Amino acid sequence: MQLRVGMVGYAFMGAAHSQAWRTVNRVYDLPARARMALICGRDAGNVAEAADRLGWDAYTTDWRDLVSRDDIDVVDVCTPGDSHAEIALAALAAGKHVLCEKPLANTVEEARAMAAAAATARASGVRSMCGFNYRRVPAVAMMRRLVADGRLGVIRHVRAAYLQDWIVDPQFPLVWRLQKDRAGSGALGDIGAHIIDLTQYVTGQRITGVSAVTETFVKERPLPAGSSGLAATVDGHADGAGPATGPVTVDDAALFVARLDGGALATYEASRFATGRKNALRVEINGSLGSVVFDLERLNELEFYDATLPTAEQGFSRILVTEGDHPYMSAWWPPGHIIGYEHSFTHQMRDFIEAIATGTDPEPSFADALQVQLVLDAVVRSAELGSSWTDVEPALTAVAV
Ligand SMILES: NC(=O)c1ccc[n+]([C@@H]2O[C@H](COP(=O)([O-])OP(=O)(O)OC[C@H]3O[C@@H](n4cnc5c(N)ncnc54)[C@H](O)[C@@H]3O)[C@@H](O)[C@H]2O)c1
Repeated sequence: MQLRVGMVGYAFMGAAHSQAWRTVNRVYDLPARARMALICGRDAGNVAEAADRLGWDAYTTDWRDLVSRDDIDVVDVCTPGDSHAEIALAALAAGKHVLCEKPLANTVEEARAMAAAAATARASGVRSMCGFNYRRVPAVAMMRRLVADGRLGVIRHVRAAYLQDWIVDPQFPLVWRLQKDRAGSGALGDIGAHIIDLTQYVTGQRITGVSAVTETFVKERPLPAGSSGLAATVDGHADGAGPATGPVTVDDAALFVARLDGGALATYEASRFATGRKNALRVEINGSLGSVVFDLERLNELEFYDATLPTAEQGFSRILVTEGDHPYMSAWWPPGHIIGYEHSFTHQMRDFIEAIATGTDPEPSFADALQVQLVLDAVVRSAELGSSWTDVEPALTAVAV
């Protein structure tokens, strides 16, 4: 079975996804083969160059062409959040399997429509998944296994932080990630969404309510060099700042405490102002029988504390998550031969291809991603209400299926 993939967007995530589509069938023995059939971008010259560099058979400059073609089976959405809903809804309506980058959408309303469309399309065997790739880091999947196997006992605390520092300089230009109409939110939806999904995945518990603070430390920034106005701001990380300025309309940092439905208390911190922290994602979980810690900067490792050992032997131990019986690792290298960031995307494609080929539902589903969106929405509402306690709308009632 061959799956002909069409991917929209070819910058950061486009490159990461291309690497994964290219690699996945060479590493894993799967019931279907992905073919990198078509890539889409708006500028013909740039997308032609990207197709050649990233290894795609052909290119187009209109995503509507990509989603409507009969020779495309899978649509991979790697664009900013303001186009996720439109592209994914059109692709699902055209009967394509859809992988959509996170956060699923810019608003709860869009996410709700996407989850409903995915549920309808599923009846005809069409699969959809949201790209929370950190679930696919073997050590993260191993954390989940430890929790599911009862090795941590009753979960009491979740402590999660995702910290970056790329906009500490007030002269850093107003790229799309700093505009609400393009990105939906700032650090909250970009990196906070990852730790919301990751902790819910690992613990099997869902966030039921939050109390939040958010802040925009730098409220006005230069427009990127060469742009003539907000609508023209360049994608991703700009090359430089121009003389004109515009308002930052998203949060620079978002912090919240939360309750999980299994009784745990949790704290979350997402910031782009953590000077010195480049892409620092750290999660610690404390349970009645032990604790576990994951740090993305040491992504092949877990720290595990087993409180059932004799007291004289207790202490945090380091598990090197590279054994063949660790999640995802059997197809890679011999034990001790470590992997990196990009492999999480290969694992994501592996799970998606397998689900399509075997007719099962991949996770996280659009409904799971809608639930993350509902948490983001509760955080925003709580912050607007002076941190007052705000319940997360239950995901089950959010999609009428
Ligand atoms: N999973 C992760 O860890 C992770 C990391 C970074 C970004 N993301 C998500 O991936 C998505 C893209 O982010 P990025 O960092 O790759 O952004 P980027 O700015 O690097 O790339 C965006 C791409 O989309 C293209 N694009 C924009 N609008 C388009 C349209 N209408 N039609 C066709 N192409 C269009 C741009 O030309 C560019 O190629 C976002 O949703 C973001 O949140 C996920």
